[in-house]
Amino acid sequence: MKTALVTGGAHRIGQQICRTLHQAGFNLIIHYNASKTAAQALADEFNLTRNSSAIIIQAELSNIEDINQLCQSINQLDVLVNNASVFYPTPIDNINNTDYQKIMNTNLMGPLFLSTTLSNKLSTTQGCIVNIVDIHGDRPLRNHSIYNISKAAIAMMTKTLAKELAPNIRVNGVSPGSILWPENEAELNQDQKQSMLNKIALNKQGSASDIANTVLFLAQSNYVTGQIIAVDGGRSLNQ
Ligand SMILES: NC(=O)c1ccc[n+]([C@@H]2O[C@H](COP(=O)([O-])OP(=O)(O)OC[C@H]3O[C@@H](n4cnc5c(N)ncnc54)[C@H](OP(=O)(O)O)[C@@H]3O)[C@@H](O)[C@H]2O)c1
Repeated sequence: MKTALVTGGAHRIGQQICRTLHQAGFNLIIHYNASKTAAQALADEFNLTRNSSAIIIQAELSNIEDINQLCQSINQLDVLVNNASVFYPTPIDNINNTDYQKIMNTNLMGPLFLSTTLSNKLSTTQGCIVNIVDIHGDRPLRNHSIYNISKAAIAMMTKTLAKELAPNIRVNGVSPGSILWPENEAELNQDQKQSMLNKIALNKQGSASDIANTVLFLAQSNYVTGQIIAVDGGRSLNQ
């Protein structure tokens, strides 16, 4: 039985990645930070379907001690999905170190140190890493400079780790376009949403399943490494 760790697995895209991998037969380690109730409910649901097939682990991924503790608690690992991230605007005239630390540590340091610290375990199982990137790691989203930079960095991390960790570990990425509207501080108004939809060749948002199915594809594609697949409905064609 193969085991996958999905960071930020309690809600939204991460939750769907957990569901898709579980349905494909993986056991799940569902990582969460604040969403314990949702993570536990998901694990309970999986364990009802298949006994002892899911556990939850808490960690603040911008904190290196938390990352180390999380890694120590894992015995066997076949797939690491670096999905957790923070997303909110950081206008260039108000850029500050607090936001820089929060976004870069969560979106880059966390995935990097999870990947390197877990590489021994992934190597033993000839496992793989799938990083959730963003098309804005390539073409910047206005007012989101630190987020854009963090995603450009995780795209390069994907390629550099694919080289460094070969031949025992494959490393790939999925680059979503517009999938689920941002919530809370990054929420968009109706005009902003429409203007975003107008730029998508397929004229609609994608679904969390579109991302999760691509993660599963990469987890099962034994001769693919160092690749980042854009799942964006053709948005990159129009930027
Ligand atoms: N939504 C989209 O349309 C879209 C578009 C392009 C790219 N993406 C990428 O796809 C992935 C998933 O997107 P999403 O919108 O589903 O994500 P999200 O809801 O914004 O965040 C996913 C999870 O990340 C966890 N998280 C945030 N900060 C953390 C920290 N410091 N330490 C540990 N965990 C932390 C949170 O877990 P808790 O709730 O447990 O705190 C949260 O539930 C992200 O990498 C995102 O950049 C999404």
